[in-house]
Amino acid sequence: MDLRPVGRQFFIRTYGCQMNGHDSELMESILLSYGFQPAKSEDTANIIILNTCSVREQAERKAIGRLQRLARRKKSEEDFYFGVTGCMAQNLGLELFHCVPDIDFVIAPRRIHAIGEVLRRLKNGERQIYFPNESVETSENNDVLYRRKVIKASAFVTIANGCNMNCAYCIVPKTRGREICRPMESILHEVQFLVEKGVREVTLGGQIVNFYGVRKIPFKNGKSPFVQLLEKVHSIDGVDRIRFLSPHPSGFRDDLIDCYSNLPKLCPHVHFPIQSGSDRILRAMRRPYTRQMALKILHKLRRNIPLMAISTDLIVGFPGETEEDFRQTEQLFSEVDFDMAFIFKYSLRTGTQAAVMDNQIPEIVSEERNQILLKKLAVTSYRRNRLFIDSRQPVLVEAPSTKDPAVLWGYTPHHKKVFFHGPRKLIGQIADIKISKATTCALSGTLADELV
Ligand code: 5AD
Ligand code: SF4
Repeated sequence: MDLRPVGRQFFIRTYGCQMNGHDSELMESILLSYGFQPAKSEDTANIIILNTCSVREQAERKAIGRLQRLARRKKSEEDFYFGVTGCMAQNLGLELFHCVPDIDFVIAPRRIHAIGEVLRRLKNGERQIYFPNESVETSENNDVLYRRKVIKASAFVTIANGCNMNCAYCIVPKTRGREICRPMESILHEVQFLVEKGVREVTLGGQIVNFYGVRKIPFKNGKSPFVQLLEKVHSIDGVDRIRFLSPHPSGFRDDLIDCYSNLPKLCPHVHFPIQSGSDRILRAMRRPYTRQMALKILHKLRRNIPLMAISTDLIVGFPGETEEDFRQTEQLFSEVDFDMAFIFKYSLRTGTQAAVMDNQIPEIVSEERNQILLKKLAVTSYRRNRLFIDSRQPVLVEAPSTKDPAVLWGYTPHHKKVFFHGPRKLIGQIADIKISKATTCALSGTLADELV
């Protein structure tokens, strides 16, 4: 039986970071406005989009495997289209048409606004459409943001896209291009629009948010343009919570640290990507800060804000990382007591500076270092999570659990995921939860009061 009645059912599979997650939501809104419908699953879809990530080789390899399976499916199904958006579309570009000859479209991150138009053209018989970032055939259109159709209690708002840094391991400057900041007014309009639709929490997002606007907007009373933006978002009625993702340790100055004390809506959690605890490796990575500078910021945050939650990104096995360098990272790990950490084994990315460095580290060594940090993380995250047992937490309820629909989940201000039994009407609301249990990755509790 054919479950795809009208040939307009799409399915988007998202890999990688929150920026990609947001781009997928944007594409979904655009496709809905073109009259396409979301499919219940990949199997029942006749349009499949892989919104890809290039940060690590493994993610690219997995996506190519999936594309090759989709190519086989295309041979046996009429009216079936599939393609790639996101970082791989820019990183591999035309090469993708060689690896997967039947692919219908390849659209780079800066051009995803064209997705509706691309599908319309494919449906009209055009074949193999390619939009790299440099393409002039279509332009970015921020208006589309206001036409968002997918609205949840917590929304990601892009404030900048692209990156001007030069981290030796990273492919993002190549895939997303140079940084473009959205005008402040446009961001504030979008936040206003979102709260009118019922959004309670906004996450201001970009590759490096704390460098927002530094080349165009002057500092005011010692406050950076990003801090000025935070203050303006804070003053919008209806915004209950503010987060941002990700800051860079350089440029995380006192004006930003003070925001955690001065702006009550700013959640007491920071994602602070340190990458390494060794100054020698940080230098080789071209990260312009030292271990001491990073620690000073984190100590201040923990001193000023009760139970300040800190998460990080760390790379193990960067070229030339010695036992001593790794020991420094281990030490830093113990010293900071991270709530959460994303630990990555260094992945060689062609075209980056690190790809041609001597002393590439064998996989077996990176894996061993990875396991050591993961073990440490299990201990620290459990200890940090236990600090919340017996407390009452305001939980912004996101959705029912996939395992048990009677159980709901949401996040506390410290970005702890909480599971509890409760009625579905709480989705999108802030519920008061008494925490009774902690694991390494989540908390659970009972409903104390329905709404905060
Ligand atoms: N190998 C491993 N991890 C990487 N990251 C970026 N590039 C690489 C790479 N080549 C990690 C960094 C960054 C996160 C998003 O991905 O830790 O903060
Ligand atoms: Fe990549 Fe560095 Fe830019 Fe982050 S700051 S996106 S790690 S180049």
